[in-house]
Amino acid sequence: MENHNKVLMLIVCTFFFCSMPTYCIQHTLTTNQFIQYNDTLVSAAGTFEAGFFNFGDPQRQYFGIWYNNISPRTYVWVANRNTPAQNSTAMMKLTDQGSLVILDGSKGVIWNSNSSRIGVKPVVKLLDSGNLVLKDANSTQNFFWESFDYPGDTFLAGMQLKSNLVTGPYRYLTSWRNPEDPAEGEYSYRIDTHGFPQLVTAKGATILYRGGSWNGILFTGSSWLRKQRILNFSLVITDKELSYQYKSLNISIITRKVLDPYGTSQRFIWSDRTQIWEPTSSRPADQCDDYALCGINSNCNINGFPICECLVGFMPKFQPKWESSNWSDGCVRKTHLNCLHGDGFLPYRNMKLPDTSASWFDKSMTLEECKTMCLKKCSCTAYANLDVRAGRSGCLLWFDNIVDMRIHQDQGQDIYIRLASSEFDHKKNMRNFKRAGILAGVIALVIGIAVLVLVTSVYRKKLGYMKKIFKWKYKKQNEDGDLVTIFNFLSITNATNNFSNRNKLGEGGFGPVYKGIMVDGKEIAVKRLSKTSIQGIEEFKNEVKLMATLQHHTTRSKLLDWTKRLEIIDGIARGLLYLHQDSTLRIIHRDVKISNILLDIDMVPKISDFGLARSFMGDQAEANTNTVTGTHGYMPPEYAVHGSFSIKSDVFSFGVVVLEIISGKKNSGFCDPRHRLDLLGHAWRLWIEERPEELIADILYDEAICSEIIRFIHVGLLCVQQQPENRPNMSSVVFMLKGEKLLPEPSEPGFYSGRHNKNGTDFSINEATISLLEAR
Ligand SMILES: *[C@@H]1O[C@H](CO)[C@@H](O)[C@H](O)[C@H]1NC(C)=O
Ligand SMILES: *[C@@H]1O[C@H](CO)[C@@H](O)[C@H](O)[C@H]1NC(C)=O
Ligand SMILES: *[C@@H]1O[C@H](CO)[C@@H](O)[C@H](O)[C@H]1NC(C)=O
Ligand SMILES: *[C@@H]1O[C@H](CO)[C@@H](O)[C@H](O)[C@H]1NC(C)=O
Ligand SMILES: *[C@@H]1O[C@H](CO)[C@@H](O)[C@H](O)[C@H]1NC(C)=O
Ligand SMILES: *[C@@H]1O[C@H](CO)[C@@H](O)[C@H](O)[C@H]1NC(C)=O
Ligand SMILES: *[C@@H]1O[C@H](CO)[C@@H](O)[C@H](O)[C@H]1NC(C)=O
Repeated sequence: MENHNKVLMLIVCTFFFCSMPTYCIQHTLTTNQFIQYNDTLVSAAGTFEAGFFNFGDPQRQYFGIWYNNISPRTYVWVANRNTPAQNSTAMMKLTDQGSLVILDGSKGVIWNSNSSRIGVKPVVKLLDSGNLVLKDANSTQNFFWESFDYPGDTFLAGMQLKSNLVTGPYRYLTSWRNPEDPAEGEYSYRIDTHGFPQLVTAKGATILYRGGSWNGILFTGSSWLRKQRILNFSLVITDKELSYQYKSLNISIITRKVLDPYGTSQRFIWSDRTQIWEPTSSRPADQCDDYALCGINSNCNINGFPICECLVGFMPKFQPKWESSNWSDGCVRKTHLNCLHGDGFLPYRNMKLPDTSASWFDKSMTLEECKTMCLKKCSCTAYANLDVRAGRSGCLLWFDNIVDMRIHQDQGQDIYIRLASSEFDHKKNMRNFKRAGILAGVIALVIGIAVLVLVTSVYRKKLGYMKKIFKWKYKKQNEDGDLVTIFNFLSITNATNNFSNRNKLGEGGFGPVYKGIMVDGKEIAVKRLSKTSIQGIEEFKNEVKLMATLQHHTTRSKLLDWTKRLEIIDGIARGLLYLHQDSTLRIIHRDVKISNILLDIDMVPKISDFGLARSFMGDQAEANTNTVTGTHGYMPPEYAVHGSFSIKSDVFSFGVVVLEIISGKKNSGFCDPRHRLDLLGHAWRLWIEERPEELIADILYDEAICSEIIRFIHVGLLCVQQQPENRPNMSSVVFMLKGEKLLPEPSEPGFYSGRHNKNGTDFSINEATISLLEAR
């Protein structure tokens, strides 16, 4: 009878708890047991599982903890992260003295918990929090060793990050070296105890990103409105040390924070509905998150142009350098403070507070007392509330220079920056002056408009030309040379032999395309738009069409082997990244599609046709437009339906391009006969049915490159997700394509099958110029 029960237990255990076990150990490991290759230890409620695993190389075995019922397998802790075991002969065992050890068949002990205890009967237990603990068999508490004391790259609920107030951080996250090597990487995520404590991500000793200071509820660097409702963070400061942890307010929420191998910290929440890890905030998120990007006494505004601005009353230390977008020297005061005869304070609202590593703080003061305190100390330059919770205040003071402050939308705090009182007079004067000037301004404006209308009607064509030049003038030059070349009409006439028929490559709906040779020997393709074609530029700028090379000519498609195709996709991603981020102006292309990708002689892709592009110089990251223009099949739902576009609209179009290049099919016009799905729907279906390889175009490929192609499909699907906020930004995409970033599971793509607004293209006819985007 008893034996019978045991067999039953084993079966139950096997079926419910372990993925592929030969033998499954229950929740507790005792000294006469050991865990080997396929054995696993399962937590009481079955949330976590611990055992050996590898990343495809059986010669590198790790002992770790992962979520039991979550696929793909997600590791939260690795014991022997720096010392993988050689092969299947490795085992984990508990010594009689109470040490947990990993033995390698050939090398003996390769990892040791160093936790021996006398007078106990040690057992190992995996708790449902994901904590692996050693304790006395008879006691429920009193763990004498626990994995939570040795964090890896994952911060779980209940874990504590700790720092000693004198010696600094001693328990913190460290990144993996790469997604398949858990060895200690170069990034750390820890609490810096200098001044007023703050969370930082550092590479070695260099701070890369500041997670902000504690505001009574949490560290303010990341977005927290949503988090606050589901997680309870706490920071406990004693006179010796501080510890930071969080708890889930809802026991059924599964969440983890990970410091990835590239230094990005990201929180994920498991969604039962979609069965994916939904990423919430990810930091650093943009340029303004780069530590001290704008130098001292400045403010970073990601929607500003440029993103760095001096604080009011300050000016760039070195004007030309500042203007060339090197902000590292920061700003200096225009007027010196006059400590004795009164200075004032200028409030900045909704800020991520500046670096507090040299700050002074007091928990009991009121904001008014805080101000007085700051005024009394001549080197004090700013003050703010310490604690944002209702009914609390406290005081936080900064001295000398302000570093690493940014606008933080609706989640920031107010900070009061000290200014010489004369600066205030100056400001007031400016305001009066402005008011008086309004009338004059209105009159001037009316005259201005009249003149402008006149000029426009006379010089319309010229103005178009000027506008283009103006637009590009603001673009940063990259090291390789000019980003954009503008040719004048004469040089193009010469290059194409006065548009001779012999140079004609072909003719599209809106005009002929000519081959031209510039004076320096460079070959170009020129499209001449006919005067009558009011409909503007048509889909193809010339006959060097990527789609054609990909699809129609078999000789060309041999040329475009898979390596080349993937390189092209990578090149397009980099091009878009440049537009979105690297260039001084943030540019949203709005019409990314295959036919706007030109390949040069070396098959290097260049993004062309900026007819619809919008640059963002104002304070907007997203905009709405009444005329939805773009190309059917490439427009994301939020743009096609609501006319709202952002950089994530381009990401969507890029995703479509990726899937098109890989499948060799066009999204619009494609119809999977059985399911009546468009290309995105088809790709999604194949993905969830776990046969993405069927999407790959009928061009021979090596087995070796197959997984890479599938990774590209994966990235493509991430880009075309329904919700813009779920789509990665282009810098993540570039990492993802390289395989240097963990890929979340995609959610359903945004299917769109509305109509193409044919008349809507708002491209200005311009027969005199052609712009080429040089490759980086
Ligand atoms: C481990 O499991 C795999 C797959 O189930 C099996 O092929 C292998 O023989 C097992 N190895 C050991 C050492 O039990
Ligand atoms: C494991 O490695 C040891 C030494 O490297 C070797 O002797 C042994 O045969 C290997 N076992 C397996 C199953 O590969
Ligand atoms: C245990 O102690 C040894 C010897 O001091 C050390 O090399 C090893 O890193 C320690 N193990 C752990 C897990 O810290
Ligand atoms: C543990 O408890 C059992 C009975 O519950 C007892 O027989 C045993 O002596 C205890 N062991 C220790 C080390 O206290
Ligand atoms: C968060 O935890 C603290 C103590 O750890 C507790 O006082 C507080 O009530 C908790 N907040 C919520 C919203 O549960
Ligand atoms: C906890 O989360 C689950 C799943 O997200 C949800 O269904 C449930 O309503 C939540 N409970 C509370 C008390 O918020
Ligand atoms: C900006 O200037 C600093 C100091 O002059 C220099 O070290 C740094 O490399 C420059 N940064 C860039 C992006 O050119």
